[in-house]
Amino acid sequence: MRVRSPGRLRATLRVPPDKSISHRALILNGIAEGEARVENLLDSDDVRSTAACMAALGVEIDWPAGSTEARIRGAGLHGLYESDDTLDCGNSGTTMRLLTGLLAAQPLFSVLTGDDSLRTRPMGRVIEPLRRMGARISARRGDTLAPIAIRGGNLRAIQYEMPVFSAQVKSALLLAGLSVEGRTRITEPVPTRDHTEKMLAAMGAPVAREGRTVTVRRPGRLQPLGMRVPADISSAAPWLVLGACHPDAELHIEGVGINPTRTGLLDILGRMGASIELQEERETSGEPVADLVVRSSTLSGVTVQGNEIPRAIDELPLVALLGCFAHGTTVVREAEELIVKESNRIETVVTMLAALGASIEATADGFVVEGPSQLHGARLDAANDHRMGMLGAVAGALASGETRIENDAVSVSYPDFWQALEAAAPEAAQTA
Ligand code: S3P
Repeated sequence: MRVRSPGRLRATLRVPPDKSISHRALILNGIAEGEARVENLLDSDDVRSTAACMAALGVEIDWPAGSTEARIRGAGLHGLYESDDTLDCGNSGTTMRLLTGLLAAQPLFSVLTGDDSLRTRPMGRVIEPLRRMGARISARRGDTLAPIAIRGGNLRAIQYEMPVFSAQVKSALLLAGLSVEGRTRITEPVPTRDHTEKMLAAMGAPVAREGRTVTVRRPGRLQPLGMRVPADISSAAPWLVLGACHPDAELHIEGVGINPTRTGLLDILGRMGASIELQEERETSGEPVADLVVRSSTLSGVTVQGNEIPRAIDELPLVALLGCFAHGTTVVREAEELIVKESNRIETVVTMLAALGASIEATADGFVVEGPSQLHGARLDAANDHRMGMLGAVAGALASGETRIENDAVSVSYPDFWQALEAAAPEAAQTA
């Protein structure tokens, strides 16, 4: 794709449904008893991977191509079938880690695999605690990399202190905990997104939180959870950053999920001095939602660390771009998790923004950016990482001249991203 900076930006946008909630709507309703109707389900590659895996395990899913409405007939906690083939999780870490937890507790033999990127991502973090629960799991490279082979069943409850923050690992253990006797206790180092706990509680599972610890016990059954998925704040994020950095912008984004475990970027933007307004705060299917308005802003550099890191984990590459437009130094630290995302996001963000003329340096656990600097167009490789594809697009729309983005992979979470950019600013985006 080729991108140029638009002179003026005025648009009202609807961004795609939340990816994390969409995965969970399929998986959790897949083991409920009865039928659920899910509206505004994200129709993207990652969520289709989850749907295909659940269907291969015997869950009836009626989700026509191109539709955002699905009917899921749950198989119940004990009704999944053994898949007669490997389960392909594509590019999706959420699919692989959550299903590893689910299948570790099922009396089935399962093999999970994925694309070149997913097969390099760390799976030991989910395999190790599941083994402590008694699961029989083997994987490549000393049980750390997919493909993962699981001979499931007969687990016991554990108390587990997670060494790394990960909503995916927490969710995997909660899913395993649904099928074991006794109480599974999971303690997080810092709080991560809580959609799994919230949805399980709404489905009648005995889930409780106390401080950094979540506990779950085996429910008799899970009730189906009909719901409407809110728009994804991680997909709103590129627009929020574009609007804040562009000199003549006002963007409205409708119905965005603002669950406090996800709003790190809003807090960071606020601390940098960005003009962000939350309007019409309301609730959709148990999740807080608002319309967001962003306007051109004068930004100052900030340091991002601690609890804010998991709350903005997928938006941290965009914080580097904000740093290019902010006065002073922007530092992101304690974010070594970025290294093991769909690409090594510390390396990719630094390479991409440096090519555009940013003053940015990688550190062991993040990056340091000096601003402001005038970015100029360049040729960028987004390393087949959707978030980096969108970072490149927004950076290109803020740079002088033309930027070309290769390997953007936006279909993983935001299939019509390029059309949305073209609609918001017709002179900004062009298919290469
Ligand atoms: C996700 C959790 C985060 C996030 C990912 C989606 C989820 O990963 O980066 O995009 O849906 O649970 P980790 O839990 O591995 O940090």
